[in-house]
Amino acid sequence: MDIVVSGIRSTGNLHLGNYFGAIRNFVKMQTENQCFFFIADFHSLTTHPTPENLHDNVRQVLSEYLACGIDPEIATVYLQSDLPQVTELYLLMNMIAYIGELERTTTFKEKVRLQPDNVNAGLLTYPVLMAADIIIHKAAKVPVGKDQEQNLEMTRRFAKRFNHMYKVDYFPEPSPYNFGEALIKIPGLDGTGKMGKSEGNGIFLAEEPESIRKKVMKAVTDKGPTKENQKMSEPVQNLFTLMEVISDTDTLTHFTDQYNRCEIQYGEMKKQLAEDIITFTTPIREKIIAIYKDESYLARVVREGAEKARESASKTLREVREIIGFKPFV
Ligand code: TRP
Repeated sequence: MDIVVSGIRSTGNLHLGNYFGAIRNFVKMQTENQCFFFIADFHSLTTHPTPENLHDNVRQVLSEYLACGIDPEIATVYLQSDLPQVTELYLLMNMIAYIGELERTTTFKEKVRLQPDNVNAGLLTYPVLMAADIIIHKAAKVPVGKDQEQNLEMTRRFAKRFNHMYKVDYFPEPSPYNFGEALIKIPGLDGTGKMGKSEGNGIFLAEEPESIRKKVMKAVTDKGPTKENQKMSEPVQNLFTLMEVISDTDTLTHFTDQYNRCEIQYGEMKKQLAEDIITFTTPIREKIIAIYKDESYLARVVREGAEKARESASKTLREVREIIGFKPFV
């Protein structure tokens, strides 16, 4: 089985875009690969959460992943901060990462633009920590979205450089893994672009039905089609895309036909869409709440995950130290 590693930043609740774009695939991957899924709580520090928020965010995201079907009996689920080996490997890899290449990374430049008052060194070396996360388990495949492709490219580069520098064939170069099928991009409710955590255009897995109804009813549309089989505007197409992943095919066909005959009432369509989303999210929301409350279960998942992950991590670190030339005095 191939080794797969993926990290989830513990910032913000998961939404439908995360579910259909990533988590659903993680659940399928876990049976066909040896998967390590961790909560990237060190990475979340780049935005300086308060101590109360830090723990609560980790607990929420962990509960959400487990509720979606990530199975800690099958995959290794752990917290990044529970593996001191990652931090040590991060230090070692920092010695072969160059300032210039880190400064040129798109995600870094983007962060500088978005948070000019907090350009900390952790942001600059973010790709090095991410590389350490991945190569600590000698991963072959990493499921990442478009926005993380360059960071994964950096991981490959650091792994290659390490091998070259120490004349070893030690770290594999991990490739992006997106599970064959074309990635679905889930649109937001504001007419353009994809659903995001911070854009305010998303529906969360843990969201209450009343709030989902309100959001869907307020979603952007247009004045309605005036010609038969008219091409859909982007906001309307987005609602149909959501309906395609959420509702059954009869419902989708029904409203598509109505649109094509210029008989559609967007209000009706939204009402149906909202109810279908609620039907989909309700069992997940209930599970999230139950897991979040179950302290002893969460404690056990985290403890057992850390034990399993440390086994693999300490083996790598021992070997890396030896390759670099650390030797015990005997
Ligand atoms: N950088 C990733 C993100 O923002 C999270 C992450 C951290 C990650 N370490 C990782 C993803 C290792 C994959 C593998 O989404």
